[in-house]
Amino acid sequence: MMETVENMVEMRFPSKAANIGFARTAVALFASLLEFTLDELDEIKIAVSEAVSNAVIHGYKGTEGEITITCRLTSNRLEIIVKDQGCGIADVEQALEPAFTTEPEERMGLGLVFVREYMDKLVIDSKPGRGTSVFMTKSPTQAQVHS
Ligand SMILES: Nc1ncnc2c1ncn2[C@@H]1O[C@H](COP(=O)(O)OP(=O)(O)OP(=O)(O)O)[C@@H](O)[C@H]1O
Ligand SMILES: [Mg+2]
Repeated sequence: MMETVENMVEMRFPSKAANIGFARTAVALFASLLEFTLDELDEIKIAVSEAVSNAVIHGYKGTEGEITITCRLTSNRLEIIVKDQGCGIADVEQALEPAFTTEPEERMGLGLVFVREYMDKLVIDSKPGRGTSVFMTKSPTQAQVHS
């Protein structure tokens, strides 16, 4: 059965590095409507930073384009979609491998490893030339206490 979406927010911004910090904090504020611990909120911030950095650095490499973030809340789950219309990923499986990067001089190739580690679910939909969509979800682990 589908869970009811109880709240949602959508953001649209140019792929400027300055917006990475905005995105991570904005999503964490929205996420705090659920009962995440501070550690979990930090994990969400890292996952969002990594996904948005990838859109800026790889997706739009040297150009500027639009990034959209859609966040949805059900009663116990946060869903985040980070989307770009950049260069896309040729091989998503390979992109998820630890230490795989298309910029070995500059980067570690660990961003997506952290996203997978910190979020409950990660699904990447990408086509070369069409852009990339990073879908991730996370639920609070603490038992919900309702008085
Ligand atoms: N939005 C995107 N658009 C195009 N390519 C992407 C995108 N996200 C990831 N990639 C590709 O996947 C690879 C792996 O991404 P990942 O974030 O794991 O490592 P990285 O960005 O190369 O290094 P790090 O995140 O450690 O700085 C990237 O090198 C890039 O080739
Ligand atoms: Mg990265």
